[in-house]
Amino acid sequence: MECIRNFSIIAHVDHGKSTLADRFIERCGNLNERKMEQQVLDSMDIERERGITIKAQAVSLDYRAADGRAYRLNLIDTPGHVDFSYEVSRSLSACEGALLVVDAAQGVEAQSIANCYSAVEHGLEVLPVLNKIDLPAADAARTARQIADLIGLDAASASLVSARTGAGVPELLERVVAEVPPPRGDPHKPLKALIIDSWFDAYVGVVVLVRVVDGRLARRDRITAMAGGAVHQVESVGVFTPARVTRQALEAGEVGFVIAGIKDVAAARVGDTLTWAERPAAAALSGFKRVTPRVFAGLYPSDSDDYKELRDALGKLSLNDASLQWEPESSRALGFGFRCGFLGTLHMEVVQERLEREYGRDLVTTAPTVTYRVHVAGGGVIHVHNPDGLPEAGRIERIEEPLIAATILAPKKYIGAVIGLCMEKRGVHKRIQYAGAAAALEFELPLNEVVFDFFDRLKSLTRGFASFDYHPSGYAEAPLVRLDVLINGERVDALSTIVHKDNAARLGRALVEKMRDLIPRQMFDVALQAAVGARVIARTTAKALRKNVTAKCYGGDVTRKRKLLEKQKAGKKRMKRIGKIAVPQEAFLAVLRVAR
Ligand code: GTP
Repeated sequence: MECIRNFSIIAHVDHGKSTLADRFIERCGNLNERKMEQQVLDSMDIERERGITIKAQAVSLDYRAADGRAYRLNLIDTPGHVDFSYEVSRSLSACEGALLVVDAAQGVEAQSIANCYSAVEHGLEVLPVLNKIDLPAADAARTARQIADLIGLDAASASLVSARTGAGVPELLERVVAEVPPPRGDPHKPLKALIIDSWFDAYVGVVVLVRVVDGRLARRDRITAMAGGAVHQVESVGVFTPARVTRQALEAGEVGFVIAGIKDVAAARVGDTLTWAERPAAAALSGFKRVTPRVFAGLYPSDSDDYKELRDALGKLSLNDASLQWEPESSRALGFGFRCGFLGTLHMEVVQERLEREYGRDLVTTAPTVTYRVHVAGGGVIHVHNPDGLPEAGRIERIEEPLIAATILAPKKYIGAVIGLCMEKRGVHKRIQYAGAAAALEFELPLNEVVFDFFDRLKSLTRGFASFDYHPSGYAEAPLVRLDVLINGERVDALSTIVHKDNAARLGRALVEKMRDLIPRQMFDVALQAAVGARVIARTTAKALRKNVTAKCYGGDVTRKRKLLEKQKAGKKRMKRIGKIAVPQEAFLAVLRVAR
C-alpha cells in the first residue's frame, strides 16, 4: 500500500484535464505512441466530439520514481460539467489526493472552486497545477493569486505545466508521489469496496469500477452491494492500463474493475459498497445516496409506430446510465412516449443525442421542466414533473419550486450585468467576493429559471467570460401557473409550461409569436393562443400560404425545383401532426427560446 497513490484531476471544463491525463499515460509508458489515440480517457463518441468527459474512468499507471521505487498511480478521471457533479464526488471519495488544474490563461472559474471545495470536504490533499503555460496569454502569478483569494488555497508553489507540450509533467508526477498520501485500509477486514462507476458492456455484462478500502477482492468471491442487491460471483477482476488487464485480486487501497455477471447497472449503483456475501462488512461506506433527476422532459417517437423501438433503446441506454429515469407517458398531442428524468439539461441533450445516433431513433422532445411540490386542498403533496399533470387551480393550496445555490465567476466589469440577469430570473443575492479583476457572486435562484436559457444569456452578457456552478438548496413557495398553448382552439398538452404568474402574459405573447414563425404555413389560417386556465392572454394568427414553394422557379430549372422539394421533405422529419397541422420539433421547444 505504501507505493499506491490514488488521485483525481479536478478542473473547470476545458482547462485541460483529459490532455494532462494523456500525458501521464504516455509518460508511464502504458501506451506506445502509435496506439496513443488522442484523449484515450474520453472513450465515448459523443465525449470525443463534444470534448466533454461524461463517465468517470480510472487508469492504473506503473511509475518508476526518481527515488528508484516502483509506484502504482491510480488516476481517476472526473467529469467536469455540473450536471455530472455527483460523479465527481464519488470519484473523489476513492482518492487521497487531487490535482486542481487551472488554465493559467483563463484563471479560476466556477467549477474550479466548486470541485476544489468538494475535494477539501473529502479530506484530500489538493495540489494546485497551473496548466497551458505555453500560451502567450498565460499568467501564472495572477492565477496563483486568484486561487489564494477565491479558494483560499496557497498556490505560490503550484506546479507549472503544459499538458500540450508535456513541459513540467515529469516534475508533477514526482510531486504526486511525494505529496499525495498512500491509501489507508485494513487488508484483513471483510471486503469493503466503493463503487466509483459502473457501465454495461455488451460482451461481459456490467463492469464495476471499485476502490477497495478494506479486505481483498478476488476471483470466485461471492459479493453483494450493501444498499440492497443480489449475490453475484466474481468472474474476473483487474485494472485499466487503460487496456483491460485481468489480475488475480485487487488488494486494499487499489482501484480496479470487477465483472460478476451483473445484468443491469441499477444493481451496482455508483456510491454503493460491495462486500462479501458470506462475511459482510459491518457498515457501508458513507455517502451513498441515490441520484435524483432534476430536469424532466417528454421523449416521443416522431413516428408513433416506433414506440416499441424507443422503449427498447431507452432500456438499453439505462443499462449504462443509472441516473437516467424513464416511465411511459401519453399525450393527446404526441401519442405514446416517455417522461424521462435527467441530472440537468446537458445530460438531457446527451441522452437525446445518443438515442438518435447510437440507436437511430427519430425523436420529438418537449420542453424540460423541474419537479414542483404541489400541496393540494384537503392535505397531501404531489410531485409534478409534467406541466400537464398540474391539478386544477381550485384544488391547489400552494406550489413550491426547487431552488439552487449558484456561484458565478465573472470579471468585475460584468457584475452589473450578472446581477441584472439574476434579478430578472428571480434570484436572491447572497454574497460577493473579489479577487483581483474577478468577482465571485453567490445567488439563490429558482432551478426552473436556470434550466431555460440562463447559461446562454450569462455567457453572452459577459462575452463568454462568466462561469457558473450550482447545487440544489431546497424548495420555496411561489405563485406559479400553467401556461397553455391552443392551436385552432385546441389545447396542445405537450406545449404547456409552468411559469411565474407575473411573467405569464409576457411569455404567452412571446410564445405564440415564436410559434407563428416556427409552424410551417398552411393552406388555411391557424389561430394560436396562449391561456392561463380559461383566460386567453395572447393570440395571433399564422396566415394561410398563398404560393407553392416552387412557384418562383418558373418551372424552368428542374434541379433547383427538386432541391427545394427535398429540403421540404427533410424538414418534415421530427414533426408531429396535430389535427391537420404538422408541428415541427422546434415548436415544442419554442418555450426555451423566448426570453423569460
Ligand atoms: P472536459 O473533459 O470537458 O472537462 O475538459 P478537459 O478539462 O478535459 O479539457 P481538455 O483536456 O479536453 O482540454 C481542452 C482544450 O485545451 C483542448 O483543446 C486541449 O488541446 C487544450 N489544452 C489542454 N492543455 C493545454 C496546454 O497545456 N496548452 C494549450 N495550449 N492547450 C491545452
